[in-house]
Amino acid sequence: MNIILTGFMGTGKSAVGRKLARSLGMEYLDTDELIEERERSKIYHIFEKKGEPYFRKVETAMVREVSHLDNHVISTGGGVVLKDENIKALRRNGFIICLTANPEAILKRTERIQDRPLLNEPDPEKRIKELLRMRRAYYEKADFSIDTSNLSVEEIVRRIEGVLRKKDESCSCRPGGA
Ligand code: S3P
Repeated sequence: MNIILTGFMGTGKSAVGRKLARSLGMEYLDTDELIEERERSKIYHIFEKKGEPYFRKVETAMVREVSHLDNHVISTGGGVVLKDENIKALRRNGFIICLTANPEAILKRTERIQDRPLLNEPDPEKRIKELLRMRRAYYEKADFSIDTSNLSVEEIVRRIEGVLRKKDESCSCRPGGA
């Protein structure tokens, strides 16, 4: 079983994913990192040179690939949830945890690193709010959500471990549960 981290940009998926994998003794993967390796190009260059539709195509192919793995913590790009086929593929062997955060926290966390083409706008706060509104229903499809606005990476990891423990307990109590 994989643990899939979804959520908007700046909600902590990569930092949390890395730490969670280490803590659970699982492998770690980040779909954006894999895309950059595969394309030999930074995400913002891919957007700039080939456009968002091309990026989304590569992203879906990558999601399909990683969904065949097992025992991995997989952090996904913030837009992965927008395609139903991505979520279906990831769910086949994955428990999906969505990290959320309020717009203020997202702005603070994304301001420092200017590599997010979708927020490269004169008013990034307005854009964040717009995108969050448009995407809310997609993020809500996760199996579990955690608001990370006021939590440290360590606290988020601990919460996820708690959620996983409860999930395992309830599975093993059910007759025939694995
Ligand atoms: C995107 C999020 C980014 C990256 C790309 C598009 C999105 O990933 O995939 O810039 O559509 O929300 P992070 O969520 O890791 O920043």
